[in-house]
Amino acid sequence: MNNNIETDVVGGPVRHVPVMLNEVLSCLQPASGKLNGLNIVDGTFGAGGYSSAIVGSGANVLAIDRDPNAIRDGASLVAELAGKLSLVQGKFGSLDVLAQNNSFIEVDGVVLDIGVSSMQLDEAERGFSFQKDGPLDMRMGQSGVSAADVVNTMQQQDLTRVIGILGEERKASAVSRAIVREREKISFSTTLQLASLIEKTLGRRATDRIHPATRTFQALRIFVNQELEQLGKALFAAERLLKAGGRLVVVTFHSLEDRLVKLFFKDRCGAQEGSRHLPLVKHKDATFVIRGKGLLKASKEEAEINPRARSAKLRWGERNDNPPAKMDMSIFGLPNLVSLNALPVKGE
Ligand SMILES: C[S@@+](CC[C@H](N)C(=O)[O-])C[C@H]1O[C@@H](n2cnc3c(N)ncnc32)[C@H](O)[C@@H]1O
Repeated sequence: MNNNIETDVVGGPVRHVPVMLNEVLSCLQPASGKLNGLNIVDGTFGAGGYSSAIVGSGANVLAIDRDPNAIRDGASLVAELAGKLSLVQGKFGSLDVLAQNNSFIEVDGVVLDIGVSSMQLDEAERGFSFQKDGPLDMRMGQSGVSAADVVNTMQQQDLTRVIGILGEERKASAVSRAIVREREKISFSTTLQLASLIEKTLGRRATDRIHPATRTFQALRIFVNQELEQLGKALFAAERLLKAGGRLVVVTFHSLEDRLVKLFFKDRCGAQEGSRHLPLVKHKDATFVIRGKGLLKASKEEAEINPRARSAKLRWGERNDNPPAKMDMSIFGLPNLVSLNALPVKGE
């Protein structure tokens, strides 16, 4: 199997270029150095870039994706890799349950590649992009509360918090005020309707590096898909699922997500702050160990070819033989935002 990042992994033109693939493969490898015969869970199948390369290295893969389109489009790869790749629809926050339900036990590795795929971003009708007109949707799982539902029904002060915290938008109040005024006249239904309102509200200078709607769209996407909660749950699920010596490898593209992974490993490795001059102390309750460099970034060469790789951060750890520790989402200090289920629209 060719691990080149430009490999066409699903038999058509390249759709999603897997990021840091070679690093992912080497971090998944146990101390013995081979993936051959191991059981790996790929929690974010996407276009199957990781899954296909992991199977190509000799492992069996259970792949998960919440997006029905990813499952539909992955069927040909499943047929091609007969018996080595299974693909199920579901959320990675329950990856341990999904693995057990699919009789995938003795798991040696879990990999997560957080965020949206190029296919999701590029398809206007999915509503993730402010550059293409489409329904204001953004639901990876294609059910439940959409981005349009959020902007049409959320209280202004809640909207300000969502946009300010999840989008890190400094002018969140101005954006939410404009949204609430606009929806009194007409409901939001399309991406460009929202993007142009934000552009009109915040203005745009020729020197601006990003479109003024970037942060608000990011906030809505993270909120609609409950991405931070899902990531937190997935880390605990991987802790429960992995056998001793198994590897957890997580690639993130945003500081909000990377922070969660960092806090998780800090907590699970026994939070050894200490000084670099002190010997490493083995914490009795630790469930993971970091071997070597726990944080990797994409190579210069990859970042040049694939702009998505520039912001990628890979963190990984190795499961030890202690029982899983208590699942405590408070270690992440997640922002206290209004619940998706509290909106006056039907949830997932
Ligand atoms: C960045 S893409 C993965 C690309 C993949 N590594 C590849 O090489 O083709 C992320 C994928 O994860 C899926 N995803 C995001 N959140 C999820 C969740 N909570 N549960 C399951 N799948 C999720 C998305 O639908 C998307 O297909």
